[in-house]
Amino acid sequence: MDVSKLMFRDGLMKDERILVTGGGTGLGKEMAEGFLTLGAEVHICGRRGGVLEETAKELMDKHGGKVVPHACDIRVAEAITEMNDRIWSQHGALTGLINNAAGNFISRTEDLSIRGFDAISNIVFRGSFYMTHDIGKRWIAEKRRGNVCSILTTWVWNGGPFVVPSAMSKAGVNVMTQSLAVEWGHYGLRFNAIAPGPFPTEGMSKRLSPDAEGAERMDRGVANPMGRVGEMHELVNLAVFLMAPGAEYVNGQTIAIDGAMYNASGGNFSMLTAWGDEQWAAAREAIEATNAKDRAKRTV
Ligand code: HXC
Ligand code: NAP
Repeated sequence: MDVSKLMFRDGLMKDERILVTGGGTGLGKEMAEGFLTLGAEVHICGRRGGVLEETAKELMDKHGGKVVPHACDIRVAEAITEMNDRIWSQHGALTGLINNAAGNFISRTEDLSIRGFDAISNIVFRGSFYMTHDIGKRWIAEKRRGNVCSILTTWVWNGGPFVVPSAMSKAGVNVMTQSLAVEWGHYGLRFNAIAPGPFPTEGMSKRLSPDAEGAERMDRGVANPMGRVGEMHELVNLAVFLMAPGAEYVNGQTIAIDGAMYNASGGNFSMLTAWGDEQWAAAREAIEATNAKDRAKRTV
């Protein structure tokens, strides 16, 4: 990311300690970089310990400051508690959480097994709740202010054909955001969410546009009123706005950042209705190869 495009003053986030789940790659890494640049202490977690360590080193070499990697699988509630115990005792209380970790792939729903559904919903639906619940309870017990931002999709408003487990799970996290904003607002805790349109990342592109034509369509920003995909600093500026001091009265909101794509064309995968068996078989093969490659790097 070009950090000169951040809209905010240096040191804005100097009193913040923020955990970004899935912060080793993609959008999580970009947000981690933004928070770090503005003075926050940043913690990142994921299942590939080596990837997290490389990211932490890369960001600290570039900007100084403190980025702490944690190998943690957010599907495992006990692992979350252990990580947060470690953060609290070795570094101090978190002030913010970004629920960014996710799993996803395109598939016809009739081709999904129960394990396939669980592979996605256990990360997005359950993992995001486990993390929010563990950290929220600590903030309540310690009478601290706290701030949660979840990374969703615009499918929470109009559905996600061919990504049903993801769309259902993100919609659940959207309702969690609205509910806890009200239930826990009086504790000084707030909950917002961002619904990004296409911001190409390796993790996303290889699972949602595994064919060359789809990748090209995505990169050209086809069906987007602005004729392009999102730029990372645009997403990071919105995340900083929601996480930094100064926007405390914003609570219970989900903000789209998609160039008005979902208003114009749905912003989902309805066009894949045209695919036949052969295209779905090829997509699955490519996606499963990506999954296997990533799985081989997991340390938890
Ligand atoms: C059908 C599939 C499949 C496919 C996997 N499965 N890929 N089914 N079509 N393409 C099935 C498998 O056959 C298996 O079921 C089950 O899913 C579990 O597969 P595993 O590979 O064992 O799962 P696991 O190792 O737990 O990996 C989880 C994962 C993987 C979700 C499948 O993709 C992952 O770890 N992803 C993390 C990163 C990621 O997905 N990033 C993208 C986020 S982008 P059976 O029954 O055969 O055993 C995003 C963007 C949204 O969310 C918005 C864009 C605009
Ligand atoms: P990505 O790079 O694949 O990011 C997903 C991250 O989640 C990875 O770092 C992954 O790390 C982590 N993760 C997955 N399962 C986990 C688990 N069980 N425990 C801990 N960490 C886990 O993809 P991305 O595009 O940046 O996506 C980031 C977020 O943005 C997701 O919520 C996605 O739905 C959302 N989003 C992205 C776009 C886009 O255009 N890119 C659009 C809309 C929404 P490990 O595999 O090492 O665990």
